[in-house]
Amino acid sequence: MTKKLWGGRFEDSPHALMETLGESVSFDARLAPWDIRASIAHARMLGVCGIIDKEDAGRIIEGLEQIAQDVSSGKIVWDKTLEDVHGNIEALLVAKIGDAGKKLHTARSRNDQIATDMRLYTRDQTDTICGLLRDLQHALLAAAERHMEVIMPGYTHLQPAQPVLLAHHLFAYFEMLDRDFERFSQLRHRINVMPLGSAALAGTPHPISREQVAHDLGFEALSANSMDAVSDRDYLIEFCSAASLVMMHLSRWSEELVLWSSPAFGFVEIGDAFTTGSSIMPQKKNPDAAELTRGKTGRVYADLLALLTLMKGLPLTYNRDLQEDKEPVFHASDTVQLCLAVFAAMLPETVFNREAMLQATARGFMNATDLADYLVGKAVPFRKAHEVVGEMVRYCIKGNTSLDALSLQELKQFHPAVEEDVFHALDLQTLLERRNQCGATAPKQVREALLAARKRIQKA
Ligand code: ARG
Repeated sequence: MTKKLWGGRFEDSPHALMETLGESVSFDARLAPWDIRASIAHARMLGVCGIIDKEDAGRIIEGLEQIAQDVSSGKIVWDKTLEDVHGNIEALLVAKIGDAGKKLHTARSRNDQIATDMRLYTRDQTDTICGLLRDLQHALLAAAERHMEVIMPGYTHLQPAQPVLLAHHLFAYFEMLDRDFERFSQLRHRINVMPLGSAALAGTPHPISREQVAHDLGFEALSANSMDAVSDRDYLIEFCSAASLVMMHLSRWSEELVLWSSPAFGFVEIGDAFTTGSSIMPQKKNPDAAELTRGKTGRVYADLLALLTLMKGLPLTYNRDLQEDKEPVFHASDTVQLCLAVFAAMLPETVFNREAMLQATARGFMNATDLADYLVGKAVPFRKAHEVVGEMVRYCIKGNTSLDALSLQELKQFHPAVEEDVFHALDLQTLLERRNQCGATAPKQVREALLAARKRIQKA
């Protein structure tokens, strides 16, 4: 049986069930590259500060570098009886370099070690996620620019409301992702604080240099309170919260792709590479990538809830419950990265059906508001205009026609203020162009918004 890190005090070995319950290496082994980086910085500092011999520090660093290579080439067989990634790497080090390896854990506890590993890990994941968010934003801008002329119905209550540019619709998602990017960037500063040196909870009597380790590992600041540092998991909760918001945005978009690719809408055809067929119905082409993203969103929310619940009521400082923080974070991070990559790859493979979108604008009386506004322009009070247009719509529904298909005489029956220029007012292009405020759907505004957006994401 392998000797435990804490074996000295114990007469009996743990029950097999206790080992199964307590091990985390089956999921925290993925932290090995970050754990080793932090240990190398720690060992270097121990040597510089004269806490261990310089030669021993050198041997430790060399040994750890070799283990890092073995990790990346997949050579390591992780041992569950050694509990976690820290226990495994220390045992590998001692096996490699002998007694010098036993000095690595001087002035350190697994409590500040795991807190450091998780901060290094989530800092890197945050950078990757920010990059993926930008990739998807670039894909959205390209799609918007390619479809500047495409007009579609804008919806409220999923009922046709007013016509918009497809580019305007797509740009809404760009804005959501931009806030996601900002959220992760701001979170990065709160992640980037070094807990190492807090030791178990109260600090260490050894003359360590926390500043040197922080500098070595690229941390912006040192944690100011050792008790907080070993037990704080706020940043993981924020990470899962930011991930949940990304997923929520992708899930709304997924829902639209599901609807739009249904023949009932026929607005898009998603490329074969991101759809699947049915094992029984030969005609089917299902939007599985969108559905799976929508489905996975719930599980990422669950990761956030798991962490909030884990932390609720935990007394200071480290409690073993905290070992359970890893899997939700890993799952949320993996899922958000996968789904962002899928969307960035799927978007260029999605064909927008201009004709179907345009035809859909002819249904649903989307020019009704503008007709009422037209009457307001002819000095009809808005309430009255609203009522008159309501009557016109009812008339159209009975005759199975649309407002702009009525003749001037027919329109005049409802109100004498209607004149020949009404047809210009009801024209789709006019409808769009008149919404010419900053942030609205007029082609001029959308073009400017896309230009500004491109500058914004190129700067960062
Ligand atoms: N595997 C542990 C975790 O993830 C590392 C810290 C263990 N600390 C302790 N006092 N048992 O939380």
